[in-house]
Amino acid sequence: MMTRMLPVAGMIGALVFGATAAQSQNAVDEALMAQGSEIYGTACAMCHQPAGQGMPPAFPALAGNDYLANLDSLVGTIRDGREAMPPFSHFSDEELAAVITYIRNSWGNDFGGVSVDEVALLSTDQDEVTRLSVWDGIYTDEQAERGQAIYIGQCAMCHGSRLDGAADDPDQRNGPALARARMIRSWNGQSVASLFEYTRSTMPDFNPGSLSGQQTSDILAYMFQVSNMPSGDEELTDSLALLGRIIIEPDPR
Ligand code: HEC
Ligand code: HEC
Repeated sequence: MMTRMLPVAGMIGALVFGATAAQSQNAVDEALMAQGSEIYGTACAMCHQPAGQGMPPAFPALAGNDYLANLDSLVGTIRDGREAMPPFSHFSDEELAAVITYIRNSWGNDFGGVSVDEVALLSTDQDEVTRLSVWDGIYTDEQAERGQAIYIGQCAMCHGSRLDGAADDPDQRNGPALARARMIRSWNGQSVASLFEYTRSTMPDFNPGSLSGQQTSDILAYMFQVSNMPSGDEELTDSLALLGRIIIEPDPR
């Protein structure tokens, strides 16, 4: 999807904004800035960190990052993801404009504001994205069983054998609960792509980056099963683009 769509978005960007690029930078909309700050805190800070310094080499810094100057590739990267950057295809144009305004103008960055209309133009030919919920039967029982085996070996010592955290083991860094209300509260509104990529690149705490994509999906399937989310006929994929369409939320039933 990215390879097909980004060049088009780039062309539109060049056509529409090329003429204004030399003029003074767009003013920063304070309301978008405030909205963007909230979005950043819940959707981005876990990886890029509250002060934008990132966690290199896994998560690049956004403070002082000249990549943010290029608006059209920036919109595409956040909306569609790139490598280990999860997609935010569930964001509205307004949410995209808000978070972009925020990262372009925080922590000493001074790349200028962006309007909702500009972002909408750069997103014009985006396919209609079908959204799913974690309650739609997005994993299989067999997959959750595989995930359980990995979980017991590599995660339970810190996150508890019942996924409710391991607050009472003095020998380990205590991990938070990974299922049920606590997990849903902490990831509410985020896509499974963010949960997946955060887990894959930072866990297990003692050996980050050692899980394969398949193993990570299997463990998530187990976390969803323990959270009483229904299983279905198809396994949870490890494609970030597809995981980006599944939203974590409280039980809608
Ligand atoms: C699960 C971790 C994670 C989350 C959550 C995340 N990112 Fe990223 N981000 C990454 C990684 C990894 C990369 C590097 C991608 C690559 O290697 O091409 C990246 C790259 C980027 C880049 C490109 C930087 C560059 O120098 O090329 C931008 C901009 C960015 N992220 C913005 C955001 C914003 C805005 C959010 C929240 C809406 C966000 N990210 C959420 C992991 C994350
Ligand atoms: C040595 C202890 C340790 C091990 C082992 C470990 N974790 Fe963690 N984990 C932590 C700690 C501490 C945190 C909280 C701080 C952070 O997010 O880095 C955490 C956070 C998390 C989070 C984010 C939870 C949230 O809602 O904020 C997820 C998801 C996660 N771990 C999954 C896993 C999985 C899956 C495994 C096994 C493959 C695993 N962890 C193994 C210590 C551990």
